[in-house]
Amino acid sequence: MALNFSRRLLAKLAGLSALGLAMPAAAAERKGKPAQDRFVPAAFPKAFVWGTATSSYQIEGAVNEDGRGPSIWDTFSHTAGKIADHSNGDRANEHYHRYREDVQLIKRLGARAYRFSIAWPRVFPDGTGTPNPKGLDFYNRLIDQLLANGIEPYATLYHWDLPQALEDRAGGWRSSDTSKAFGDYAGHVAARISDRVKNIFTINEAGRFLNFGYGWGIDAPGLKLPAAELNQARHNVVLGHGLAVQAIRAAARKGTRVGPAENIAACVPAFATPEHIRATEMATRELNAGLLGVMLEGKYTDGFLEYAGKDAPKFTAEELKIIGAKNDFVGLNIYAPQFYIAASDKKPGWAVLPFPSSFPHMNSEWLHIGPEVIYWAPKIAAKIWNIDTIYISENGTSSEDKLRDDGKVYDLDRISFLRNYLAQLQRATSEGVPVKGYFLWSLMDNFEWIFGYEKRFGLYHVDFQTQVRTPKLSTEFFRDVVARNAIGP
Ligand code: BG6
Repeated sequence: MALNFSRRLLAKLAGLSALGLAMPAAAAERKGKPAQDRFVPAAFPKAFVWGTATSSYQIEGAVNEDGRGPSIWDTFSHTAGKIADHSNGDRANEHYHRYREDVQLIKRLGARAYRFSIAWPRVFPDGTGTPNPKGLDFYNRLIDQLLANGIEPYATLYHWDLPQALEDRAGGWRSSDTSKAFGDYAGHVAARISDRVKNIFTINEAGRFLNFGYGWGIDAPGLKLPAAELNQARHNVVLGHGLAVQAIRAAARKGTRVGPAENIAACVPAFATPEHIRATEMATRELNAGLLGVMLEGKYTDGFLEYAGKDAPKFTAEELKIIGAKNDFVGLNIYAPQFYIAASDKKPGWAVLPFPSSFPHMNSEWLHIGPEVIYWAPKIAAKIWNIDTIYISENGTSSEDKLRDDGKVYDLDRISFLRNYLAQLQRATSEGVPVKGYFLWSLMDNFEWIFGYEKRFGLYHVDFQTQVRTPKLSTEFFRDVVARNAIGP
C-alpha cells in the first residue's frame, strides 16, 4: 500500500512537471537546479537587511570610564524606587569591555547588520563644548570590529541617555538649546564615523521617552509636565531630529543615509474592509501628528493643532522646514498593536476601540500579541507619507527565559511570536510594502529600563553575575530565517 501510494505520488509529480508546474524544493534540488531558482513560498526581497539591535545605556556599563559624563538615566536609575529590581546600568552587560566577544555573537547569527547606539555623554560629557575623544574611540573600535566581521553598522545617535549636564543647565528637551546641542553632536559624530557607517538613526522612540519621561514621570528624567510644556518638549525633540539631519548632511561623507527610529502609534483596522482601512489611515495620520507626522510632513495637522488648542507648541515656519527635511529612510519600532480602529459616522470618521483586558500578551504586560500590526503599520505609513524605504528598527519580545539544568533556554514563546510577526512582515513585503530590513530587539538580555534585569528580550541569555552569554533556542530559529531569507514553510 505504502509502495503504491508513493508510486502514485511520483507519477503525479512527474505529471506536474510535464505541465511545467512548480515542483517541491527537494525535487528541484535533485534535478540540480540552482538554489536561488527554487520556489520559496515565503521569501523576503533580495538584499533584505537582517540585524539585531541594542542601545548604549542598556548594555555598555563602564559608566565612569574614559571620561564619560553622567546621563539622566544614571541619575534616574540611582534614585530609590524607580527601577523594579533596584538595579542600574553601572555594569549592565559590560559590553564596553566585552564588545569583541559580543560581535562574535552577532556573527554566529549570520545577520549582516547591527544597530547600536552612541552615548552622547561619552562624546560630549557636558552635552556641548569640548568633545572627549576617548568616547568616540570606543565606537570606532566597535565599528572596526563589526566591519572586520562582515557586519554593517547602523548607528543611533540618541537612545535616551541625555547628558545630565544638559538637563541641569537647559532643562533637557524642555529647551531648544538641547535641540541645537543635539544637532552639533550629530554633525561631530557623523564627520568622524561616516567613512564606515553609512546609515544613521537620529532619535529612538521620541513617542516613548517623551510620554514616559516628561509626561508621566515613569522614565528619566521623571517629569510630569503640563500639556503645553510637554508639547513644547515634543517640538524641541523633532526640531533636534531636523537639526541633526541638516548637520549630518553637511558633515558626513556623500551617500550617508539618515532617518528617525520611531515607535509609530501603530493602528490596525478592526477588520480589513475598505472603510475600516481608510479609517485606520486617517487615524494613523492624526495619532502620529505630533512626532512622526510632523517629521514626515513638515507641518502639524489641523486636527492636532485643534486638539492641542492653547497647549499647542510654539513654532516658526523656519523650524517646520528644518523638521520636515527629507529623510533617506524611516525606522519603525513595532512591537504591539496600539490602537484597533473602526470607521465611524461621527467626526473625525474613525474611532479607537477599547482594549479588552483579556487581550493576550507576552511576558511584558504591554506587549499585546497582534502580529498583523507589522503588516498594517508599515503598509499604511508608506501610503499616507509616501515613504520609499522603511526599516523595522525594532521588534521582539520578552520571555521567561529560564536557564534549565541542561544549560538551555527553551524560549518557544519568543519563537512563536517571531514566526507570526515575520510571516506578517513577509506578507507586507510580498505586496510591495517598501520594508528593506528588520532589526530584532535584542541581541542579548540587557538593562530593560524601569524593569531592570527582570525582563529579558535577548536572543542570547545573559547571566548578569558571571556575564556568561548563552544562546537561546530562538537563535537557531533566527539564524535559519536569516540564512534562507524566508519564513516558513
Ligand atoms: C523599546 C526600546 O521601546 O522597547 C528599547 O527602544 C526597549 O530600548 C524595548 O528595551 C523594550 O521595552 P521595555 O520598556 O519593556 O524595556
